[in-house]
Amino acid sequence: MIIAAATDYRAAAQRRLPPFLFHYIDGGAYAEHTLMRNVADLAEIALRQRVLRNMSELSLETRLFNETLAMPVALAPVGLAGMFARRGEVQAAKAAAAKGVPFTLSTVSVCPIEEVAPAIDRPLWFQLYVLKDRGFMKNALERAKAAGVTTLVFTVDMPVPGARYRDAHSGMSGPNAPLRRMLQTMTHPRWAWDVGLLGRPHDLGNISAYRGHPIGLADYIGWLGDNFDPSISWQDLQWIRDFWDGPMVIKGILDPQDARDAVSFGADGIVVSNHGGRQLDGVLSSARALPAIAAAVKGQLAILADSGVRSGLDVVRMLALGADCVLLGRAFIYALAAAGGAGVSHLLELIEKEMRVAMVLTGAKSISEISAESLVRELGH
Ligand code: GLV
Repeated sequence: MIIAAATDYRAAAQRRLPPFLFHYIDGGAYAEHTLMRNVADLAEIALRQRVLRNMSELSLETRLFNETLAMPVALAPVGLAGMFARRGEVQAAKAAAAKGVPFTLSTVSVCPIEEVAPAIDRPLWFQLYVLKDRGFMKNALERAKAAGVTTLVFTVDMPVPGARYRDAHSGMSGPNAPLRRMLQTMTHPRWAWDVGLLGRPHDLGNISAYRGHPIGLADYIGWLGDNFDPSISWQDLQWIRDFWDGPMVIKGILDPQDARDAVSFGADGIVVSNHGGRQLDGVLSSARALPAIAAAVKGQLAILADSGVRSGLDVVRMLALGADCVLLGRAFIYALAAAGGAGVSHLLELIEKEMRVAMVLTGAKSISEISAESLVRELGH
């Protein structure tokens, strides 16, 4: 299979993965309208072509949270990344570090913090959910500190899990799920050998370490449902702000008022996100939500954005809409599933190349020159 574009990795991932895993990553909540709009709304953003401006010197470097990033891109936290490739979080983190961009480890990763952090030579970012078990949260924060984690990404758009109907159809959950997963594994021998067998142990590494026994995939959905906390409010986050002296980023902001509240709270950054269309279907796409949020808080904290970004052009579009840095979720998981760490490295190369072309042809020599001026006003949102 020929991989020419960043977007080619999706089909390659579908070939390699048992369907329950492909649909888990590919799918969204309810009828998946927000998931589709994330992609479609970004594609509609018209870049403003400029020419003859001597674009021979180009810099993609950016500074964020006291770090230098080779480009304003980071890998998003994705649960179960270690099911998509053998010890997948380690492979993806290494590829990101080699490229000079951050990797964010999910709370519900397969590989624990202690396995991923020492494998890379740049600081790891760590994502935490708001869980009922505050003992676990405290333990995870202490372990993150001990492992040298710098930036904490706090996900707040999952006080309840959104309904992912595709998961019930695919065998991720629903009737006879374990049997269906086993049959799918048998018909995908390359994945079964490389990840299913050699990628073990398959458990929620960060949580098993705390509980003292393995939490397997079978418990995953149940565990999330049992542990997410719908009572959460800004006050509950205060102890984390007090405990965590590094940068703290609030992920899952879609409204300017919530963005202002994040500033009042003292957050160092926000991620404008609808969780990749995996939570409340029908909410705004990130591309549509971002300009009003940028108008409200730009310059007061770092604005990160995700949901719908599949290419380097999409990264440039998000930056032009007001983001300071862009997270890749599905895009990197497709590459990881298709070709492991080498796939993630290649994807990041492709993203960089696409960004360079977009910057030359919109006349932006540096990341800070990408702005609303890089868009055609009548068509841009
Ligand atoms: C977890 O955050 C998921 O979206 O599945």
